[in-house]
Amino acid sequence: MSIHKEIKRITTQVLQEMKAEKQKIAMLTAYDFSMARILDASGMDILLVGDSASNVMAGHETTLPITLDQMIYHAASVIRAVRRALVVVDLPFGSYQGNSRLALESAIRIMKEAGAHSVKLEGGQEIENSVRRILSAGIPVMGHLGLTPQSIYKFGTYTVRATEEEEANRLKEDAMLLESLGCFALVLEKIPASLAKEVTGSLHIPTIGIGAGPHTDGQVLVSHDMLGLNKGFSPRFLRRYANLYETILNASQQYIRDVKSSNFPNEQEQY
Ligand code: KIV
Repeated sequence: MSIHKEIKRITTQVLQEMKAEKQKIAMLTAYDFSMARILDASGMDILLVGDSASNVMAGHETTLPITLDQMIYHAASVIRAVRRALVVVDLPFGSYQGNSRLALESAIRIMKEAGAHSVKLEGGQEIENSVRRILSAGIPVMGHLGLTPQSIYKFGTYTVRATEEEEANRLKEDAMLLESLGCFALVLEKIPASLAKEVTGSLHIPTIGIGAGPHTDGQVLVSHDMLGLNKGFSPRFLRRYANLYETILNASQQYIRDVKSSNFPNEQEQY
């Protein structure tokens, strides 16, 4: 039996063992209590309270507008539902880039007020001091390299990153740096599969890919995308496991018909 089926709670140490034993790690995003309860019951290893909440929950075009208070609200809702998964919470844009003290204060608020298990920050060498300081407070940190959506206005586009040698080399250096600082895992977003394979092979900590091919130690998707709630977003890496848009649309339309035709409520559905 695989180790992750036997254990009661996923910790950063369990993830390390899963990498060593070549067991893949499954991660999805969660932003609210009801969804987190289902995802946790499914046996998901990691739930990410991603700043993608800015897009899928609040309807913003980018992840930049979401605030630390809003992330704490989402994270606390998820934490109340979770019994087994490790919960990682994104530090939102503006809550850590300023200086390492700001970063530590933001991370502490997420741990204290939401009860999170760990935090995730985007970037490499440019956030070294912040990562160092958060880790020194005993807070586990997940790194995030490749396409880092908080830098979308620098990139100008959401296309695949690190296709050129210079950027690929910088990414490899950043990955080694984040591991040496003490990060427990690393998200690799939208980079060539061959580069993700090389980085994964060179690290002792697990890599979790999104649009980074099959060779990473785990995979992550935005739950709303993989459940088919979001019709307009179809990147190549996205596999849809359900079509909840249609399911919810059909159920809502049936409800409207039943209300309008006085078919709901019936005799059994009243007091
Ligand atoms: O915010 C998010 O959902 C993420 C994942 C795409 C990794 O950072």
